[in-house]
Amino acid sequence: MSTRLPPELTVGFEEIDRHHRRLIDLMDAATAAARNGDLAAARAGAAALGDELVTHFSSEEGFMAEALYPDRARHKAAHDLFLQDYAQLGKELEAGLSDLAVHWLTIRVPEWVKFHIGVNDVPLGQYLTARHFRPEQPRATGAKSRPS
Ligand SMILES: [Fe+2]
Repeated sequence: MSTRLPPELTVGFEEIDRHHRRLIDLMDAATAAARNGDLAAARAGAAALGDELVTHFSSEEGFMAEALYPDRARHKAAHDLFLQDYAQLGKELEAGLSDLAVHWLTIRVPEWVKFHIGVNDVPLGQYLTARHFRPEQPRATGAKSRPS
Protein backbone atom coordinates (compact mmCIF):
# COMPACT_ATOMS: atom_id res chain seq x y z
CA MET A 1 0.00 0.00 0.00
CA SER A 2 1.25 3.45 -0.79
CA THR A 3 -0.62 6.64 -0.16
CA ARG A 4 -0.65 9.39 -2.74
CA LEU A 5 0.22 12.67 -1.08
CA PRO A 6 -2.23 15.52 -1.60
CA PRO A 7 -0.64 18.69 -3.03
CA GLU A 8 -0.55 20.49 0.34
CA LEU A 9 1.47 17.59 1.82
CA THR A 10 3.87 17.20 -1.10
CA VAL A 11 7.29 18.52 -0.19
CA GLY A 12 8.78 18.10 -3.67
CA PHE A 13 11.96 16.43 -2.41
CA GLU A 14 11.52 12.77 -3.27
CA GLU A 15 13.37 11.21 -0.37
CA ILE A 16 11.23 13.13 2.15
CA ASP A 17 8.01 12.54 0.20
CA ARG A 18 8.74 8.81 0.16
CA HIS A 19 9.19 8.82 3.94
CA HIS A 20 5.98 10.78 4.36
CA ARG A 21 3.99 8.31 2.27
CA ARG A 22 5.23 5.53 4.53
CA LEU A 23 4.50 7.55 7.68
CA ILE A 24 0.97 8.26 6.53
CA ASP A 25 0.38 4.58 5.71
CA LEU A 26 1.55 3.59 9.21
CA MET A 27 -0.48 6.37 10.79
CA ASP A 28 -3.62 5.29 8.92
CA ALA A 29 -3.12 1.71 10.16
CA ALA A 30 -2.71 2.86 13.78
CA THR A 31 -5.75 5.13 13.46
CA ALA A 32 -7.88 2.30 12.07
CA ALA A 33 -6.81 -0.03 14.89
CA ALA A 34 -7.76 2.59 17.50
CA ARG A 35 -11.12 3.21 15.81
CA ASN A 36 -11.79 -0.53 15.81
CA GLY A 37 -10.93 -0.85 19.48
CA ASP A 38 -8.12 -3.29 18.70
CA LEU A 39 -5.61 -2.70 21.50
CA ALA A 40 -2.92 -5.10 20.22
CA ALA A 41 -3.00 -3.60 16.73
CA ALA A 42 -3.07 -0.06 18.14
CA ARG A 43 0.00 -0.78 20.27
CA ALA A 44 1.84 -2.41 17.37
CA GLY A 45 0.79 0.37 15.01
CA ALA A 46 1.83 3.12 17.40
CA ALA A 47 5.20 1.42 17.98
CA ALA A 48 5.83 1.02 14.24
CA LEU A 49 4.86 4.64 13.63
CA GLY A 50 7.09 5.80 16.48
CA ASP A 51 10.08 3.92 15.04
CA GLU A 52 9.46 5.40 11.61
CA LEU A 53 9.09 8.90 13.06
CA VAL A 54 12.46 8.63 14.84
CA THR A 55 14.18 7.41 11.67
CA HIS A 56 12.50 10.01 9.51
CA PHE A 57 13.21 12.94 11.85
CA SER A 58 16.84 11.90 12.08
CA SER A 59 17.03 11.77 8.31
CA GLU A 60 15.52 15.24 7.89
CA GLU A 61 17.82 16.62 10.58
CA GLY A 62 20.80 15.17 8.70
CA PHE A 63 19.67 16.88 5.50
CA MET A 64 19.19 20.17 7.35
CA ALA A 65 22.64 20.02 8.90
CA GLU A 66 24.35 19.06 5.63
CA ALA A 67 22.54 21.73 3.67
CA LEU A 68 22.99 24.38 6.41
CA TYR A 69 19.24 24.97 6.43
CA PRO A 70 18.73 28.29 8.26
CA ASP A 71 15.62 27.19 10.19
CA ARG A 72 17.06 23.85 11.33
CA ALA A 73 17.13 24.57 15.08
CA ARG A 74 13.44 25.43 15.19
CA HIS A 75 12.51 22.52 12.94
CA LYS A 76 14.46 20.07 15.11
CA ALA A 77 12.86 21.52 18.24
CA ALA A 78 9.43 20.74 16.73
CA HIS A 79 10.54 17.12 16.17
CA ASP A 80 11.90 16.82 19.72
CA LEU A 81 8.78 18.22 21.32
CA PHE A 82 6.55 15.91 19.35
CA LEU A 83 8.61 12.83 20.26
CA GLN A 84 8.34 13.77 23.94
CA ASP A 85 4.57 13.92 23.56
CA TYR A 86 4.54 10.72 21.55
CA ALA A 87 6.29 8.88 24.39
CA GLN A 88 3.30 9.79 26.57
CA LEU A 89 1.03 8.06 24.07
CA GLY A 90 3.09 4.87 24.51
CA LYS A 91 2.62 5.06 28.27
CA GLU A 92 -1.09 5.68 27.83
CA LEU A 93 -1.38 2.60 25.59
CA GLU A 94 0.37 0.45 28.22
CA ALA A 95 -2.71 1.00 30.38
CA GLY A 96 -5.14 0.24 27.56
CA LEU A 97 -7.06 1.86 24.76
CA SER A 98 -8.33 4.80 26.79
CA ASP A 99 -10.35 7.67 25.33
CA LEU A 100 -7.18 9.74 25.48
CA ALA A 101 -5.17 7.14 23.53
CA VAL A 102 -7.91 6.89 20.90
CA HIS A 103 -8.01 10.69 20.65
CA TRP A 104 -4.26 10.77 20.09
CA LEU A 105 -4.27 8.09 17.42
CA THR A 106 -7.32 9.28 15.55
CA ILE A 107 -6.99 13.06 15.82
CA ARG A 108 -3.95 14.51 17.52
CA VAL A 109 -1.18 12.55 15.76
CA PRO A 110 -2.66 12.89 12.25
CA GLU A 111 -3.26 16.61 12.80
CA TRP A 112 0.27 17.18 14.06
CA VAL A 113 1.89 15.22 11.21
CA LYS A 114 -0.12 17.05 8.56
CA PHE A 115 0.46 20.43 10.20
CA HIS A 116 4.19 19.76 10.52
CA ILE A 117 4.56 18.67 6.92
CA GLY A 118 2.69 21.73 5.65
CA VAL A 119 4.37 24.28 7.90
CA ASN A 120 7.89 22.88 8.43
CA ASP A 121 8.65 20.25 5.81
CA VAL A 122 7.33 21.98 2.70
CA PRO A 123 9.68 24.98 3.18
CA LEU A 124 12.55 22.55 3.86
CA GLY A 125 11.76 20.66 0.65
CA GLN A 126 11.68 23.91 -1.32
CA TYR A 127 15.06 24.91 0.13
CA LEU A 128 16.66 21.54 -0.67
CA THR A 129 15.17 21.41 -4.15
CA ALA A 130 16.24 24.97 -4.99
CA ARG A 131 19.82 24.04 -4.06
CA HIS A 132 19.75 20.73 -5.95
CA PHE A 133 20.68 19.13 -2.64
CA ARG A 134 21.74 15.48 -2.65
CA PRO A 135 22.58 13.74 0.62
CA GLU A 136 26.23 12.72 0.93
CA GLN A 137 25.33 9.18 1.90
CA PRO A 138 22.28 7.00 2.30
CA ARG A 139 20.57 7.76 5.59
CA ALA A 140 18.72 4.51 6.07
CA THR A 141 21.79 2.42 6.94
CA GLY A 142 23.58 5.02 9.00
CA ALA A 143 26.72 4.08 7.03
CA LYS A 144 29.61 6.47 7.36
CA SER A 145 31.37 5.78 4.09
CA ARG A 146 32.66 8.60 1.95
CA PRO A 147 34.23 8.41 -1.50
CA SER A 148 37.95 9.18 -1.38
FE1 LIG B 1 10.12 17.66 9.82
